[in-house]
Amino acid sequence: MGIHAPIGVFDSGVGGLTVAREIMRQIPEERLVYFGDTARLPYGSKSQKTILHFVRQIIRFLETKKVKAIVVACNTASAYALETIEKEIDVPIIGVIKPGAKTAARTSRNGKVGVIATDATIGSGLYTDFIRSINPEIQVFGKACPLFVPLVEEGLTHDFVTEEIARRYLKELQEKEIDTLILGCTHYPLLRSLIGGVMGDSVQLVNPAYETALSLRRLLTEKGLLSDGLAAAEGKYEFYVSDGAEKFRVFANSILPREIPATQVVDIEKY
Ligand code: DGL
Repeated sequence: MGIHAPIGVFDSGVGGLTVAREIMRQIPEERLVYFGDTARLPYGSKSQKTILHFVRQIIRFLETKKVKAIVVACNTASAYALETIEKEIDVPIIGVIKPGAKTAARTSRNGKVGVIATDATIGSGLYTDFIRSINPEIQVFGKACPLFVPLVEEGLTHDFVTEEIARRYLKELQEKEIDTLILGCTHYPLLRSLIGGVMGDSVQLVNPAYETALSLRRLLTEKGLLSDGLAAAEGKYEFYVSDGAEKFRVFANSILPREIPATQVVDIEKY
């Protein structure tokens, strides 16, 4: 695969755009093919078997786009499918959990880290496993916050209702006196200021998207796949979804650094 081939990035929907945004900022010379599985979200409440099936279909679709690397820009899919999938394909692939866990382990001073995520990600225990493999002394406290995803999707990122729910969800983590909190779901960085306001200045928020983009750059460099930026800019970013293309495009344009072209619908069940 050549250095000018695109990077495949996928999520259950719009959440992975927070990861795509970070990649666009940190390695702007790269081409991206983004797939959002908007017809089948949320992933956070589904079983491992179902998610694995979805992820295999998405990988087959991305392979038709001749991607040189794949980023699983979804915590739930990273937790449930990455370990299996990486053994099945030749394309280099990374998820968001390991990079986020690494940053949190490095950030915490008092050895108490909180993780907020979907039910599936918390249930997998993967953030805890990765953090403890780096530093077994760290205590990790997980809390599923299932209402955050629909609230973000409804655009209620600065709403008093969301703030009240955040207070209820985060109370037990405050009582544990954590000093670091991982935003372990791709939607949650969009609630960063609200969550930061509830937790207060003494708690560092970790956005795994930032470290994932750094890890991606390292991976591409290691494999000799980093773009030299000389390819034609045309078709630099392509966006595909399994449903609701226009809604996705409007949401994407509200958070991405540049206007995205039309989003195309893919019949993902065919893959
Ligand atoms: N993208 C998912 C994640 O990061 C959240 C949305 C969903 O449940 O599908 O876990």
